[in-house]
Amino acid sequence: MHPLVPSPGGPLDDADLAAHYAYPAGLAAPYVRVNFVTSADGAVTVDGRSGGLGSAADRQVFGLLRELADVVLAGAGTVRAENYRGARRPTRGTDTPPPIAVVSGSADLDPASRLFTDTAVPPIVLTLDSAPLDRRERLAAAGGDVVVLERLTPDLVLAELARRGLHRVLCEGGPALFGSLVAADAVDELCLTVAPLLAGGTAGRIIRGPEGSHPRPMDLVGVLEDAGILLLRYRRAAPIG
Ligand SMILES: NC(=O)c1ccc[n+]([C@@H]2O[C@H](COP(=O)([O-])OP(=O)(O)OC[C@H]3O[C@@H](n4cnc5c(N)ncnc54)[C@H](OP(=O)(O)O)[C@@H]3O)[C@@H](O)[C@H]2O)c1
Repeated sequence: MHPLVPSPGGPLDDADLAAHYAYPAGLAAPYVRVNFVTSADGAVTVDGRSGGLGSAADRQVFGLLRELADVVLAGAGTVRAENYRGARRPTRGTDTPPPIAVVSGSADLDPASRLFTDTAVPPIVLTLDSAPLDRRERLAAAGGDVVVLERLTPDLVLAELARRGLHRVLCEGGPALFGSLVAADAVDELCLTVAPLLAGGTAGRIIRGPEGSHPRPMDLVGVLEDAGILLLRYRRAAPIG
């Protein structure tokens, strides 16, 4: 993997890559990094999943970003579609992997799925009082750390993570959750892998959000290239003036 931005250079080793993707030091509040892979024509899936867009470089960065995070935040749609399991590797500097925190208004998750059965740490299920009680109880019995919030808005979701000291947030999508975060202006960073292929079809793009959401300016702060794959890093633009 070679850097093009901030300055062109030779191959990056593991330490260089970790430095490239370092979270800001000394965070006292959640910092939301979102990670997605897309095709060159903007598709977020091939045949309904992201796997068809993957590559060795994308998987390497996907894994590294998890190792740098305190928590992996995902929408229930992604957890269901991708049959999520717990993160494997510990967060760097600790001996436990980051928990997966799932946002699900319905609590419609399978307690027998890998999210609950194949994980070193309990998944956090962020849900609502309106979700059927028996579902919530089944998820708790399966080992889930089930939390009922008043609303599943980004401010309350992030406040719950902050309450647990989980400040380095890695959101792995999907488009609906990303859309909510953008509408709430809660996104600090986007890591976007662009796969060199044209997916065609009717796949959506990386955000599905409410109409009328304001465009959020971002600064391009990192570009890595590997075999035609671009790994872009955008950070919330500094306020003008
Ligand atoms: N290319 C990539 O990098 C990438 C990354 C991630 C996902 N994906 C793909 O994206 C698809 C899934 O994305 P999606 O957009 O359908 O689902 P999603 O964003 O993962 O999850 C949406 C679900 O989250 C829950 N939710 C609760 N509060 C919410 C809120 N405030 N905002 C948004 N969601 C909230 C709801 O769950 P309940 O229905 O349980 O109430 C909602 O149905 C899959 O096909 C997956 O493969 C691709």
